[in-house]
Amino acid sequence: MTKAAHRIDPDTAHGFHDLWQARYGGGLSPSPPAAPNPVLQSLLAHRSVRAFDPAPLEEGTLEWLIAAAQSAPSSSNLQTWSVVAVEDAERKARLAEFAGNQGHVREAPLVLVWLADLARLRGLAQQAQVPIEGADYLDSSLMGVIDAVLAAQNAVIAAQSLGLGTVYLGAIRNHPERVAAELGLPPGVFAVVGLCVGRPDVSRPAAVKPRLPQSAVLSRERYSPSQTQGHVRNYDATMQSFYASQGMPVARWSEHSLARLRGPEQLKGRHRLVEALQAQRIGLR
Ligand SMILES: Cc1cc2nc3c(=O)[nH]c(=O)nc-3n(C[C@H](O)[C@H](O)[C@H](O)COP(=O)(O)O)c2cc1C
Repeated sequence: MTKAAHRIDPDTAHGFHDLWQARYGGGLSPSPPAAPNPVLQSLLAHRSVRAFDPAPLEEGTLEWLIAAAQSAPSSSNLQTWSVVAVEDAERKARLAEFAGNQGHVREAPLVLVWLADLARLRGLAQQAQVPIEGADYLDSSLMGVIDAVLAAQNAVIAAQSLGLGTVYLGAIRNHPERVAAELGLPPGVFAVVGLCVGRPDVSRPAAVKPRLPQSAVLSRERYSPSQTQGHVRNYDATMQSFYASQGMPVARWSEHSLARLRGPEQLKGRHRLVEALQAQRIGLR
């Protein structure tokens, strides 16, 4: 597939069909079902953006992103998440360093750090002098993580609808203690994921990255182990041509994915997350 073929205008008459093809890597995909709409077009047009125009965002943008984030569902409506918006260049530079020196963290005008936040309810319990032992359990911490991620993904979709680009930063967990100190996180609050937000630099466009075929991820009624080898062989070929079209080092998806999880050293500090969470008084019982 050529570089141009990945650069899809979702507003064109054939946008949805083209996006479906780009998402599943050309001829290997099933046909798209009928009745697409602009929301689906926008979702299928997602691509992570790692090259930003550093100019500040328009007034009101942050507030719209947060309104979208707060419109996400929340487990029992406990809203066990918070977010820190970072625009200060020096703070972004420090976050970039903590997150594996990723250049786009410095470049993006806005970095949002999404937090699992049990501290708000712990504070309420303390005021009301009632027990809050349930917050000590792993499920409550997971609830905070899930709430934070749902909120973040709503912000991603909102940003995309405003013509902005985003990229997540899992690497914000490489050095949890440094991030907690930088952002002043109290006990019970943990940085789950970062998100760079900005106007995409049009001179360095990002492309829609193909995914595994639906048959690899979708079971009906009961889990069925997919025909992994066939799927992966085809997907490796699709991704090789995708990387070649982007002028990126050509790698097999399977090799790259296995290398990413080969051992603790590939986790770049995240192998000691349990220790860091315990220090931050995040419930793990
Ligand atoms: C939780 C999470 C953490 C991620 N962390 C990083 C990161 O630290 N740096 C980065 O460049 N991309 C990061 N990404 C982006 C993924 O690499 C990207 O979503 C994936 O390659 C698929 O590409 P696409 O988003 O363009 O479709 C992250 C994505 C997710 C969902």
